[in-house]
Amino acid sequence: MKKTIVLGVTGGIAAFKAAQLTSDLIKKDYDVEVIMTKHATEFIAPLTFESLTKHNVMVSTFEKVADRSVKHISIAKRADLFIIVPATANVIAKIAHGLADDMLTTTFLAASCPKLICPAMNTGMYENPITQNNLKLCRSYGMHILEPASGRLACGDSGKGKLPDIEDIIDKAEELLHTDKPLYGQQVLITAGPTQEALDPVRFLTNHSSGKMGYELARAARDMGAHVTLISGPVSLRLPQDITVIQVKSAQEMMEAVKKEGAQQDIIIKAAAVGDYRAAHISEEKIKKSETELTVTFVKNPDILAMLGERKRPGQLLCGFAMETEDLEENARKKMLEKHCDMLVANNLKVEGAGFQNDTNVATFFYQDKMESLNIMSKRELSFRILETLCSLKENNGGK
Ligand code: CTP
Repeated sequence: MKKTIVLGVTGGIAAFKAAQLTSDLIKKDYDVEVIMTKHATEFIAPLTFESLTKHNVMVSTFEKVADRSVKHISIAKRADLFIIVPATANVIAKIAHGLADDMLTTTFLAASCPKLICPAMNTGMYENPITQNNLKLCRSYGMHILEPASGRLACGDSGKGKLPDIEDIIDKAEELLHTDKPLYGQQVLITAGPTQEALDPVRFLTNHSSGKMGYELARAARDMGAHVTLISGPVSLRLPQDITVIQVKSAQEMMEAVKKEGAQQDIIIKAAAVGDYRAAHISEEKIKKSETELTVTFVKNPDILAMLGERKRPGQLLCGFAMETEDLEENARKKMLEKHCDMLVANNLKVEGAGFQNDTNVATFFYQDKMESLNIMSKRELSFRILETLCSLKENNGGK
């Protein structure tokens, strides 16, 4: 069944961005109910949201609440998440103190679902101790606050107060919507992306990994309740919310970071496409072209997954990845056994929908004694499948 998000829109210039948020949430198959304050309708018309959500937008002053009390209470009960975008200093002050003088604040007070507040206002208003105290109060009631971004504001000032990017709001919303937390309290380490092996100050050797699979895994593990550390090679992806990200470039840097973080982890997933070789010598100056061929000698990089396999402590689960272009089953089994993994996720780069830059993947899971081929699915869905499988492995054998 579709999850219901109630979106409260208040009277700030960022109100227009709530339309993009609504559209993106609808595309992600959420049911969105919009409630606007009267002031918000000065910035954007209810019709915009009605066209996107296919629901009537509730805009009302307190006097009219009585007529619609059934609807606003039923929406408060049905809501899986309540978001206020943008949240003005005024609405933050009201919800911090339980004021309920219009449809939005009345419904908000009645709702018991998780609540996400996205403040957007002038820096002075945001930094005012009154607003800060109100936000502190909201947090103490269990509301989640997405810190505003810094930048040039509509009033012409520069500073903190910009509405965070829509992608970040959705990222946080999806974390809150995921109520099943089987990884609650667990430490999960994920590596993602390619590595870069320098040849000289301007050139490097790398691969086509986009990091999408690892980043989705990190988000999914966070959504399932884990404390997630993401060790990432150079990628051009948005950093996920509520995840510790350690950025590295080379395989050796990744190795050092993994060594430092690895011991305390309950689950480690090595989704990174680690470069197997690095230049034997990194030129300090730019390598100049000559009339003849260029020969570069490469030496082997450490195998991080194999190192983790050797150091694995009882109870810790290790999941590797394998990217193949031929003999998938044979190669994947070999890697899994040699690197002492509890599970290995293999994909064939030549299969349509699998591989590096896509949002989808076609995977085969390998375990000590069996294998399981999966259909094409989004990397997000696959991430949940991988983590659910690791959860059941943990239950069955404690990862030993
Ligand atoms: N891996 C690693 N360190 C390396 C190479 C690979 O940790 N130096 C990890 C990857 O993160 C992945 C798994 O090992 O989880 C398999 O990586 P893959 O590139 O498919 O295989 P390789 O072991 O490098 O073997 P080959 O390149 O010969 O297929």
